[in-house]
Amino acid sequence: MRIVVGVTGASGAIYGYTLIQVLAQMGIEVHAVYTEMGEKVLNHECGVDLAEVAKYARLYHNSDLFAPIASGSFKTQGMVVVPCSMHTLGAMANGTGEDLLTRAADVTLKEGRRLVVVPRETPVTVIHLENMLRLSRVGAVILPASPAFYFGPQTLSDLVAFIIGKILDALAIEHNLFKRWGE
Ligand SMILES: Cc1cc2nc3c(=O)[nH]c(=O)nc-3n(C[C@H](O)[C@H](O)[C@H](O)COP(=O)(O)O)c2cc1C
Repeated sequence: MRIVVGVTGASGAIYGYTLIQVLAQMGIEVHAVYTEMGEKVLNHECGVDLAEVAKYARLYHNSDLFAPIASGSFKTQGMVVVPCSMHTLGAMANGTGEDLLTRAADVTLKEGRRLVVVPRETPVTVIHLENMLRLSRVGAVILPASPAFYFGPQTLSDLVAFIIGKILDALAIEHNLFKRWGE
């Protein structure tokens, strides 16, 4: 199995980094691309650099439009953009694909594959909402980074694991990252 992970400069770098690690630990081939701001926010919030991420994923530069994930002929089981900034959300909603992350997202949609978008902003404007609506209408899953509290989280890691678990659910990947309601 092969999953593409795009990471932007929204707050919540821990979500992208953890997802990449969890997928790799599951034996899934991870292809990752960070925006310039994604890399800076990762450094700022997690104290981690891309060399660390490269231990878990095949990493591409966001300007590398020759990368395999820029083409629909390179088969993947889907893509996750996490965390997703309002900037990248807007670019994806317009299908312009001027960098590798937004091109890979566009490819994922045009090939009818699963695209999971994890926006991180609050409050949001009508512009942000309309961009989410546009993506949802073409089949993307909009999965806001808003963890639940009904499962008794004790730590920050529990809250992060909940969002990662919801992303895996959207990709139809089995996991036991959180206790499900009713179980
Ligand atoms: C520390 C930090 C946190 C940020 N958090 C957010 C955020 O949560 N959501 C968002 O849309 N933008 C956020 N931004 C602004 C984005 O980084 C900025 O809009 C940037 O252009 C996004 O570029 P990218 O989409 O190419 O990564 C943040 C910026 C910084 C420096």
